[in-house]
Amino acid sequence: MEFTTNPSGQSAKIIALFSETFAASEGAAEGALIGKLVSDMYATLDNSDKQVVCAWGDAALIGSIIFTRMTYAHDDRTVFILSPVAVAPDHQGKGIGQTLLRHGLDVLRAAHVDVVLTYGDPNYYGKVGFRQITEDTAAAPVPLSYPHGWLGQSLTDAPLDPLVGPSRCVPALSDPAYW
Ligand SMILES: CC(C)(COP(=O)(O)OP(=O)(O)OC[C@H]1O[C@@H](n2cnc3c(N)ncnc32)[C@H](O)[C@@H]1OP(=O)(O)O)[C@@H](O)C(=O)NCCC(=O)NCCS
Repeated sequence: MEFTTNPSGQSAKIIALFSETFAASEGAAEGALIGKLVSDMYATLDNSDKQVVCAWGDAALIGSIIFTRMTYAHDDRTVFILSPVAVAPDHQGKGIGQTLLRHGLDVLRAAHVDVVLTYGDPNYYGKVGFRQITEDTAAAPVPLSYPHGWLGQSLTDAPLDPLVGPSRCVPALSDPAYW
């Protein structure tokens, strides 16, 4: 397995991976919704505000994760949020997701990101260092329908002290349908 970050000329393949993976696991409507999310991210963000990390096996795309920038109005720390995550259906359950996530967190550390947040299953993301947090630690940019899934971790030696201020995510992610 090989990893690339922000590979150029691969956006159609990456959008298709997300659409097809979510359609297979959650149905056609969810596949279309997540495909639109990734398509919007490509249309509106340059690489300073997103990190698209891909896993390849035998030259085929088998997994991808996307981190986008968040800002906290009164906090200087660099914060990114992980969403979405996909491993191709034929390759799930073999540890690829966790290996890709660990690699992606190293990419963020190398880019001097201080804090990473995500919104998902605490049991799964807990395997790669995420812990449940509340909005006292990090205000969500959009009301959370499932506060139990609000997760974060520090990528530095410093503890995850509360992020100060209201938060903003990238416009592509701000549709309440994703939250
Ligand atoms: C969720 C997903 C990324 C996991 O990737 P993966 O490569 O299959 O997972 P791994 O092989 O690294 O990890 C498997 C472990 O995670 C658990 N796991 C897998 N999918 C899970 C899920 N959706 N929720 C909770 N746990 C999950 C497995 O039980 C397994 O646990 P174990 O290590 O204790 O045996 C992949 O199944 C996927 O793309 N699913 C469809 C899209 C999706 O739900 N994305 C996440 C939300 S953004």
